[in-house]
Amino acid sequence: MAKLWGGRFELESSSLLEEFNASILFDKILWREDIQGSKAHAQMLEKIGVLSKDELAQILQGLESIAQEIESGDFSFKISDEDIHMAIESALTKRIGEVGKKLHTARSRNDQVAVDFRLFVLRNNKEIQTLLLDLMQTLLDIAQEHTQSIMPGMTHLQHAQPINFGFHLIAWACNFKRDVERLEDDYKRNNFCPLGSGALAGTPYGNDREFLAQTLGFAKPTLNAMDSVSDRDFALDMLYSLSMIAMHLSRVAEELVLWSSAEFKFVSLSDAYATGSSIMPQKKNPDVPELLRGKSGRVYGSLIGLLSVMKGLPFAYNKDTQEDKEGVFDAIKNVKISLRIAKECIQTMTIHTENMAKMAKCGHLSATDLADFLVRECGVAFRDAHHITGQVVAYAEHKGVDISELAESEILSIDSRIKAGVKAVLALESSMNARDTLGGTSSKQTQIQINELMGFVAQRLKECNG
Ligand code: ARG
Repeated sequence: MAKLWGGRFELESSSLLEEFNASILFDKILWREDIQGSKAHAQMLEKIGVLSKDELAQILQGLESIAQEIESGDFSFKISDEDIHMAIESALTKRIGEVGKKLHTARSRNDQVAVDFRLFVLRNNKEIQTLLLDLMQTLLDIAQEHTQSIMPGMTHLQHAQPINFGFHLIAWACNFKRDVERLEDDYKRNNFCPLGSGALAGTPYGNDREFLAQTLGFAKPTLNAMDSVSDRDFALDMLYSLSMIAMHLSRVAEELVLWSSAEFKFVSLSDAYATGSSIMPQKKNPDVPELLRGKSGRVYGSLIGLLSVMKGLPFAYNKDTQEDKEGVFDAIKNVKISLRIAKECIQTMTIHTENMAKMAKCGHLSATDLADFLVRECGVAFRDAHHITGQVVAYAEHKGVDISELAESEILSIDSRIKAGVKAVLALESSMNARDTLGGTSSKQTQIQINELMGFVAQRLKECNG
């Protein structure tokens, strides 16, 4: 079949070339942005006198009817059309005749693909911000219920100090807050319109690039035409931000896998978000968190893939750049569904605070508090306090209990330097609430952190909806 660019060619494309060269099978996902870009371009052409009002009306109507056909699933994408830009342009000419052929005046596929892809990435940037905020909201709602629920805080995955469950969830939420802020930064950095750059050097038609930028919702036109058609930083920024989100989800997921095991039993996943084994009838597997953890691999892969494609490309457009899309589409799709299901999985899990509390009594988590008590209240030097505390721990170990379970009289009998009132200090709750400095785990400080994040989420959601 004759190509839109076929004028100088004597032979038809080989079918293998068509298959190798075409991007239509994956870039058809850009159809909305392609039509949006073409409408803005046509309006601009009318504004600068290239199209008449009537021609513009025909083109806009033609593009709109193509959009409806694609939306309804009736449009057939053919590999011979090569990419979404040519598929839509030839459909337009078929539909409205000769006038359709004027649409590509003062435009190249190089600035066309640059604007389509950028619009797509920016639209998804906003959508992913909203999904992150939804997930944060869920974490905050649960945290709010658990500022007093004691659990073992761990370092090296070993019991360390008592914390509350709300505090732990806030630690997760802080990661997603930074993800939102990173996407906001990406948006600002890349919110410039490349359309009107032509093939690489601008156009001789006097394209009104301010008008294009404004019509398409960008802050401004890009500065340099050559940079505009060769820049894929917006896609790389997105892939890096998606990689960070995937990494954060993976760490959260890892904790869910651990916590839902018989060894921890801190949570039970809802049946709706767990799966069975084909051979072991008793099993309930945490497939959702495991997949959340696993998805990070392909997202990082896409980032490294595109960095590798871009490295060494001479400036302006090169066909290599066509390899920029699939990884971005895949990463966006997978991070979006991951954020949705992470939220639902967390929202529906049962939280076993009694098991958390029980496990917090394993490992003498308030030992540091005893040492601090000896220093502060009993005038003992820290090194000696450390030693005396060690003796109390040994005593409790011997008895098979946690130090927080010893009676006051028992503790006093271990060393004469220990003063009355020690029992209260060893209680896990007082240990947790003693950590009352800014950012600490006391119920009061946890509440302050919740309030701060609640404010962040509410303000951003208002902006998104407003
Ligand atoms: N399908 C191409 C891509 O995705 C569109 C741009 C093609 N431009 C060109 N001069 N061949 O990059």
